[in-house]
Amino acid sequence: MDKNSQQLLTVKNITVLGSGIMGHGIAQVSAMSGYNVVLRDIEQQFLDKAMEKIRWSLEKLVSKEKISKQESDSILSRIKTIVDLKEAVKSADMVIEAVPEIMDLKKKVYSELDQVADKRIVFASNTSTLPITEIANTTSRPDRFIGIHFFNPPQLMKLVEVIPGQKTDQQVVNLTVDYVKSVKKEPVICKKDVPGFIVNRLFIPMVHEACWLKQRENYTLEQIDSAVKFTMGFPMGIFELADFTGMDVIHKATIELQIRDKKVIFPHPDVEKLYNDKKLGQKTGEGFYKYSDEKYERIQLDETLAKKCNPVSLVANILNNAAWLVTNKASDIAEIEKAAQLGLGLKKPIFDTAKEVGIKNIIDELNRLTQKYGTFYEPDPLLISMQ
Ligand SMILES: NC(=O)c1ccc[n+]([C@@H]2O[C@H](COP(=O)([O-])OP(=O)(O)OC[C@H]3O[C@@H](n4cnc5c(N)ncnc54)[C@H](O)[C@@H]3O)[C@@H](O)[C@H]2O)c1
Repeated sequence: MDKNSQQLLTVKNITVLGSGIMGHGIAQVSAMSGYNVVLRDIEQQFLDKAMEKIRWSLEKLVSKEKISKQESDSILSRIKTIVDLKEAVKSADMVIEAVPEIMDLKKKVYSELDQVADKRIVFASNTSTLPITEIANTTSRPDRFIGIHFFNPPQLMKLVEVIPGQKTDQQVVNLTVDYVKSVKKEPVICKKDVPGFIVNRLFIPMVHEACWLKQRENYTLEQIDSAVKFTMGFPMGIFELADFTGMDVIHKATIELQIRDKKVIFPHPDVEKLYNDKKLGQKTGEGFYKYSDEKYERIQLDETLAKKCNPVSLVANILNNAAWLVTNKASDIAEIEKAAQLGLGLKKPIFDTAKEVGIKNIIDELNRLTQKYGTFYEPDPLLISMQ
């Protein structure tokens, strides 16, 4: 660590770049924990909208008596909005970037930021799928660059994945973990900058695998979703969760993950088709399911339907990806289970479901799928060792 290391030990001032879905939420949770926050966007009108959302959210907390009016006022007083980049990062200790998930845009933003931000400032990217090391290497401070993956909505979701790049200094990792804890979130460190980190590596491939299961076994959406909910302990079905997340997010994540590693996903064409047809899920009224109006609607799933579907290939898929993370030293079983519980809402640990289904049955299924559909399905060595 260089001469600036002492100054790394405390974070008081946070600048958030991008005031959209994620940025305004990150600004709010930071201010609620006492940080001085600057929220920066390219136009004042975006910042005004973001402040409206923060005000609305705080008013809700006041009306539910979770915080007092006085607390709400002081939280708001800790958030400043600034368009000028240099001015916005003048007092920052850490910059959290939440601009759109476009690699060229991120690189452009970091190149501008790097020129105006003091050398001691830590850069933390909220990217869901882009490689941390690659972005870090475009700056003059890859040792002070880290991934900080909040989930949507940041105000409610407890999990934050922390992803060091290849050159990230351990003190920056510690500092980021401390910050995450200080905003009352649960950090899970993804020890290697692998495609999808932990949660998206489990979730995105499973959406595709569910499409294959539907096609190969002729199950209905509801049968598969019921099995996912009642047999695998998901809070909702996988198609339901995909519709809730949005096909735009899933399709773009699929592309990013595929670019970096062909073995993460066996892409099913339905995802791209839904995206191209603008059937993005809940937000457009149709995705895998149709929704009658704009308000949030749950699909009727039940245990009888669950019994009609054997989800072994889905259990095998999520387990094989979890095992891959362990084998490749990106995580361990306890951390993966924590990430799956907090990031995907799983009520039952993945490895418990695997034991119920039987590791041998899962390996047999993966071998069967490998013979039929190719090496994508080969069981991870960790699973073989668990037999
Ligand atoms: N939306 C999610 O569910 C979600 C979840 C986790 C992580 N993420 C990640 O968070 C990041 C932001 O996603 P989002 O959904 O909040 O996007 P968004 O489109 O809602 O917001 C992005 C904001 O960044 C602003 N912006 C564009 N260029 C900028 C610049 N140069 N400087 C400052 N602001 C700029 C835009 O005007 C916009 O307000 C992405 O990397 C995304 O992958 C999103």
